[in-house]
Amino acid sequence: MDTIDKENHYILHTYKRLPIEIDRADGVYIYGKDGKKYLDFFGGIAVNALGYNNPRVKAAIGTQLERYMHVSNLFYMDVQIELAETICRISGYPKVFLTNSGTEAVEAAIKISRKWGSSRNKTGLLALSNSFHGRTMGALSLTDRPKYRHGFEPFLPDVDHIAFNDVRDLQAKVGGATAAVFVEFIQGEGGVNVISDDFADELFMLKRKHGFLVVADEIQGGIYRSGKVFSFEHYGVHPDLVTMAKPLGGGLPLGGVLVDEQLQDVLGYGGHGTTFGGNPVACAAGLATLKELSERKIEFHVAKVGGYLKQKLVELAARFPDFISEVRGLGLMVGIECKTECAEIVNELLARGVLANCTNGNVIRLLPPLIIEEEHVDAFVANLGEIVQEHSKVTTK
Ligand SMILES: Cc1ncc(COP(=O)(O)O)c(C=O)c1O
Repeated sequence: MDTIDKENHYILHTYKRLPIEIDRADGVYIYGKDGKKYLDFFGGIAVNALGYNNPRVKAAIGTQLERYMHVSNLFYMDVQIELAETICRISGYPKVFLTNSGTEAVEAAIKISRKWGSSRNKTGLLALSNSFHGRTMGALSLTDRPKYRHGFEPFLPDVDHIAFNDVRDLQAKVGGATAAVFVEFIQGEGGVNVISDDFADELFMLKRKHGFLVVADEIQGGIYRSGKVFSFEHYGVHPDLVTMAKPLGGGLPLGGVLVDEQLQDVLGYGGHGTTFGGNPVACAAGLATLKELSERKIEFHVAKVGGYLKQKLVELAARFPDFISEVRGLGLMVGIECKTECAEIVNELLARGVLANCTNGNVIRLLPPLIIEEEHVDAFVANLGEIVQEHSKVTTK
């Protein structure tokens, strides 16, 4: 059996894999075993902020491997504590709980919200339509994507969804019994949808009125992806909890939830826990990543290159209005909404050695490493332009 046959044989078929057997990866490129080179505009699903093979991250992992890989959260681990200090300093939040993944960070946020609400008669959890918060049963209860929910009912009780950016629905759904509203300020999986200023303003006005918590899910849009540390910063608001993962571990599994001052004692000893969460090797990789991103002042680079990418895509959309309906996003989290399904476009990009993703049926989602340069943007847009031109000819015939 070759590798692909073995995968078919031994692994549950939950992933539709791309037809590439990876040999190695470096910078913003992945290399297949067939010798083909791919320009990566998907960054391991928003994980590889520094691209691949970053020497500082690899050295930090090597140093930690030599010390210890796992001892459990029963011990003080300097590297874990330094990572926590760094993320608190960068974010301005006072405390963090570390997890292994994004969905576990959301679970932790759900538990903190429910525990906080339990003494206040607030049990309701709300999320937005089209949202994605993860696949465990709590996170899935918040996730509003029928394709991921179907067949997994019943979900957590007292969870409802607010229509995306619909201020009236927001006003109708929140109230005195609301414990928390979970928001991706820029939805990833749902099609790169950006929260409107009006919705954010109303959400925080209602928060002041009813006293519920706001949880920002920054797992995909956070840690500099939007051109700021967190995407909610674009709105001048301050959520009570912030979930993170993806780039936090520099390519190793690590997530976390940041909590504001008034929530730091909600859980208490034994109130929550995990064997592996905050693993020291993942923390070493994450610490090196955060240091490198902040020393490079990556937010300015992301804002600049992201602006350039958006401008080039808007120009492309203007050339092919029959094909591209909208270009949207923040920083280096960009969606190109097509007038038809986009899976074929993404396959054609792949055939040309360019990786992107199709989400929500008709949105080409771009989540490149944050270190891409304008030359990479030019290569991406040139390839996409040629493909769109071909398709546009067909559809306008
Ligand atoms: C916004 C958001 N929340 C939660 C998750 C779940 O994270 P994980 O896949 O690490 O469990 C994701 C993953 O894509 C996400 O984009």
